[in-house]
Amino acid sequence: MSHSFVDLIIAKRDGHSLDDGAITWALEQYVAGHVPDEQMSALLMAILFRGLNDQELGTWTDAMVRSGERLDLRQLRRPTVDKHSTGGVGDKLSLIITPLVAAFGAAVPKLSGRGLGHTGGTIDKLDAIPGWRASMSNEAIVAQLENIGAVICAAGANLAPADKKLYALRDVTGTVESIPLIASSIMSKKIAGGTNALVLDVKVGRGAFMKDLDTARRLAETMVALGSRYGVATVAHITSMDQPLGRASGNALEVIEAVEVLRGGGPADVRELSVAFATTMLSLVGISADPATALDDGRAYEVFCAMIAAQGGDPEAKLPIGEQRDVVTAPRAGYVTRVDALEVGVATWRLGAGRARKEDDVSPGAGTICLVREGDYVEEGQALFELFADDEPHLLRGRGVLEKAFVLGDQPPLPQALILDTLGA
Ligand code: URA
Repeated sequence: MSHSFVDLIIAKRDGHSLDDGAITWALEQYVAGHVPDEQMSALLMAILFRGLNDQELGTWTDAMVRSGERLDLRQLRRPTVDKHSTGGVGDKLSLIITPLVAAFGAAVPKLSGRGLGHTGGTIDKLDAIPGWRASMSNEAIVAQLENIGAVICAAGANLAPADKKLYALRDVTGTVESIPLIASSIMSKKIAGGTNALVLDVKVGRGAFMKDLDTARRLAETMVALGSRYGVATVAHITSMDQPLGRASGNALEVIEAVEVLRGGGPADVRELSVAFATTMLSLVGISADPATALDDGRAYEVFCAMIAAQGGDPEAKLPIGEQRDVVTAPRAGYVTRVDALEVGVATWRLGAGRARKEDDVSPGAGTICLVREGDYVEEGQALFELFADDEPHLLRGRGVLEKAFVLGDQPPLPQALILDTLGA
């Protein structure tokens, strides 16, 4: 049935709900190129202000899933479980968790994206490994999942293509920060990826999309409900993103830190969250295990090497690190009361590790090492951040941001938990 797009915009603008037929028609027409971006932008803005009820959101998500192909993983002998993060600074957990969970017999089909803005993308990080290929056919994905259990690759163009078009439009029209639009965007890709179970990392805090716990909870609840609509067992952990995760932010630097954790070392917060997420993922597919053992005895690192090598990469290769280096030091003695994840993310991006437009190149070797964490005591002149870039202009741009990325005080801050809440399953 045909509808008038402008009538749908007006209905949503005035707070009415849209029926299933209208939503399906609107998304089909938009993906087919029959609706101009300005009309879809207006509808997205109306949704941002008015929201979508459960029925509308389900239909909207269905239409996004149906806009492309759905990966069929039913022939695999391993149970499938995926993980998705809403995006944070220094968030290299997927690089660790994917091989870690596979080491216990599950299959992790991690179809990822590139970074935009201050949060890095998993594909950009692995691109720092010489020879590694992000793009894989569906047949190759299935074969690698069967043989190794772990795949991290770029989501193919035909997986939820409605999201690719809508996300690009939302990015330039101020319509990203809408719970139903974020939830349908993330869940349509995960459902099209064919997983049996899913663990979500909903980040909250200064360096995250979600700035407060209530909003993060609402997003988590919405995604968990969409997961159950499709029979995908879904759990959401809400985790703190006030300060960066671990020490390293930037592509090659994060791969190096992930490998340290996979070999039983690395920063305590990265290890703790990796083990917590892997435990939840394994329990969702009925595997009871202590994932920490596979970090300590080398099994997870072995799977990582096999996963990288299967995609043409050399897991032992020396990774490129920016040749221009500098440090930011403490102007006085005191307790570190803030290491601002947003500022560190922006600095890392300015150093050259991130892109402003999706066609930009990223530097594999640019980034930041945070040498201190909130609660540490530092002396005047002590190094707080180490910076890496490919050239001096980038180094100076990043340095300017990092000089404002911390606060020193006379009292230590209260310690904060890494996992703030858990919802679902
Ligand atoms: N990540 C996504 O994939 N989609 C959004 O809308 C926001 C974050």
